[in-house]
Amino acid sequence: MKVSEVLLHLWWYALAGSAGALAKSTGGSQPVIIDTDIFGDVDDVGALTVANTLQNCGLADVRGIAIDTHSKYGALAANVRFITLAYNWPRALDSSASTPTPLEMYRSVLNAATGNSINIISIGFLTNLADLLKSEPDKISSLSGKDLISSKVKELVVMGGNYPSGWEYNFGDMDPESTDYILRNWPKTIPMTFSGFELGGNVYSGQRIAENSPVNSPIVAAYQWYVGRGSTIRMSWDPITTLYGILGLDGFSKLGFRPMLAYANKDGYNSITSSNGSNAWVNDTSVTNQHWLKLADGVTNSSMAWLLDQFFIHEPSQKSCFGYLSE
Ligand SMILES: *[C@@H]1O[C@H](CO)[C@@H](O)[C@H](O)[C@H]1NC(C)=O
Ligand SMILES: *[C@@H]1O[C@H](CO)[C@@H](O)[C@H](O)[C@H]1NC(C)=O
Ligand SMILES: *[C@@H]1O[C@H](CO)[C@@H](O)[C@H](O)[C@H]1NC(C)=O
Repeated sequence: MKVSEVLLHLWWYALAGSAGALAKSTGGSQPVIIDTDIFGDVDDVGALTVANTLQNCGLADVRGIAIDTHSKYGALAANVRFITLAYNWPRALDSSASTPTPLEMYRSVLNAATGNSINIISIGFLTNLADLLKSEPDKISSLSGKDLISSKVKELVVMGGNYPSGWEYNFGDMDPESTDYILRNWPKTIPMTFSGFELGGNVYSGQRIAENSPVNSPIVAAYQWYVGRGSTIRMSWDPITTLYGILGLDGFSKLGFRPMLAYANKDGYNSITSSNGSNAWVNDTSVTNQHWLKLADGVTNSSMAWLLDQFFIHEPSQKSCFGYLSE
């Protein structure tokens, strides 16, 4: 399949079925938009697995998925195993739906949302989000992108950067200008939380998923294919970011856990310090809407990895969050 077809079949249906299919997921479910470079690394698959499981058990409400198609790993899209993932998502494919651009998806999902309700989870480059922030009123909404964000977004959660300073791929590799634009122009009233290279880079998830997963698990297949030599162990940047984007700091209790993440700072803001996309935190007590994440006190890299593995091995058709553990 061509990359464009795979994108259509895998992900854009997330938008097509919104209204009807989502009516039943109310209550405690957090509405999210996920912006991913899905074909860049298998940890994006892990991230979507976390979102899928939390959606099935009523904690997440995925309103849209935007793809960054600039990935240099486009060949991964040809791997038919990824397609199996789509079948396990709760909504039916609607292949007749016309494919919106990422900007149209963002603007229509936000336009339809209630006030300050949507969490945007960015686990790829910031290109689509910068396009949204720069967008003018159009047929979809009479609001500018900035006003749509200010009125409809609850929080922006970004996997990107290195904390308190350094260089990281999502910020610097493809589109550092968009990263800089977002950091400078994001509305100061809307929280922006960062999950850095150093957080997910020390958490090795996927350790025992081959033995413990359902037969023909697409997750295991994707991890084995990507990591190679039969291994499934991978760093966990995007899954951790997605977990926070859905549960926040306090939502772990809904899974029966104590908070596993915490903010590493009280105030200040993130900044781009070089044209290569390097970032550094700037101390400033007058800015309080920005944070970067760390593991909560007493949580180890391996306990976070264990938690992520529970999502990876979970049978997607089960409505529980943790069918495996409750046995
Ligand atoms: C990025 O640029 C900064 C400043 O010019 C430099 O110190 C740093 O080594 C560069 N990092 C990378 C990964 O190129
Ligand atoms: C910012 O504040 C933190 C915590 O108080 C401190 O450790 C750090 O050195 C400060 N950074 C700079 C660049 O001053
Ligand atoms: C996670 O691993 C890194 C690298 O080994 C280590 O520096 C850090 O202390 C670990 N974090 C915890 C909470 O143990």
